[in-house]
Amino acid sequence: FWKDVPQGPPDPILGISEAFKRDTDPKKVNLGVGAYRDDNSKPWILPSVKKAEDAIYNGKGDHEYLPIEGFDAFNTSAVKLAYADCPAVADKRIAACQSLSGTGALRLGMAFLKRFYPKSNTVLVPNPTWGNHKTIAKDSGLDWKEYTYYNPANYGLNFNGLVGDLEKAPDGSIVLLHACAHNPTGVDLTHAEWDQLYDLFAKKNHVPFFDMAYQGFASGNTDHDAYAPRKFVKGGKSILLCQSFAKNFGLYGERIGCFSIVCDDAAEKDRVMSQVKILARPMYSNPPIYGAKVVSTVLNTPDFNKQWLADVKTMADRIINMRAALVDGLKTCGSTRDWSHITKQIGMFAFTGLKADQCQRLAKEFHIYMTMDGRISLAGLNSKNVNYVAEAIFKVSN
Ligand code: LMR
Repeated sequence: FWKDVPQGPPDPILGISEAFKRDTDPKKVNLGVGAYRDDNSKPWILPSVKKAEDAIYNGKGDHEYLPIEGFDAFNTSAVKLAYADCPAVADKRIAACQSLSGTGALRLGMAFLKRFYPKSNTVLVPNPTWGNHKTIAKDSGLDWKEYTYYNPANYGLNFNGLVGDLEKAPDGSIVLLHACAHNPTGVDLTHAEWDQLYDLFAKKNHVPFFDMAYQGFASGNTDHDAYAPRKFVKGGKSILLCQSFAKNFGLYGERIGCFSIVCDDAAEKDRVMSQVKILARPMYSNPPIYGAKVVSTVLNTPDFNKQWLADVKTMADRIINMRAALVDGLKTCGSTRDWSHITKQIGMFAFTGLKADQCQRLAKEFHIYMTMDGRISLAGLNSKNVNYVAEAIFKVSN
């Protein structure tokens, strides 16, 4: 039956993890996938999550199906975490559906747009963006097109280019926005720039489709990081929002996320919600329960919630320290290049500016793995390997 099925290429991000696993050199370092590691290169179970897990284990849980839209207490707390004091929360006009992490939220969102937004079949995505955005769009039957975002000349934001492209785009375009900690560049808009962008969206009536996979990781503060979606919602825009709890709760394998749509009123919310459920049912029927219980237990238990905010800050701070340590290491090696973008960029990643052939040399000669666009996950660095990595980067870039 399948003799004509061609061999597909490895995934540009998860394929790196596979190559890393195959490497038997003890010096190997994985700077590929965006997954947090502690200073011993080990996955970190957040203390707040551990407490919630103990409480769940000792409680009277069962393994029943969740409804199609997921665990109610989870959806309510996810919405509160994202939207906080936006009046739309109290007005009960946010349709929220538990999702299979951020990817599942994006998939639901794009399927919803495909079915209910006939005005456009194209999602505008930043150049560059997380590679999966484009394939999710394609597999949902949508086209994608890039808008200007990154400025390679200064490793920063090309805000004028971004505004220019979104001005030129047809009114009512669907625009995917990274709420914070842009992946892969680590380059975000300032709050003042978000304000300006909000005005543009209001004028052009674009559809803001937010991906917020890193709330808390950009600044260490979950409110600060949610500025953009809250600004748009408070201004009256109907946004779509994809949340992931993989990174900020360290719940990667539990596939826990939330997809929400801000509606004009509660009746519209009910209609939208009914259709999101109709989309979810044939995809996966209903979502897994464990991650939803963990997240809602943390967010709804004041002590655990306090601990969680500290845990997020611990992760964000360690990453910030690794940025500085890497730049120091490069200077110590004698690199005269300006690496200050590594400390200016934020979130889990740095966009180093290394070219594909240099990334390949790092893997082959030094057993250091990263994506071929020059992105590194700072979480893969620690006090023991940072100087080794700095030296290797120096050797391939000089
Ligand atoms: C990443 O960009 O490394 C993460 O979002 C993991 C993934 O699924 O690609």
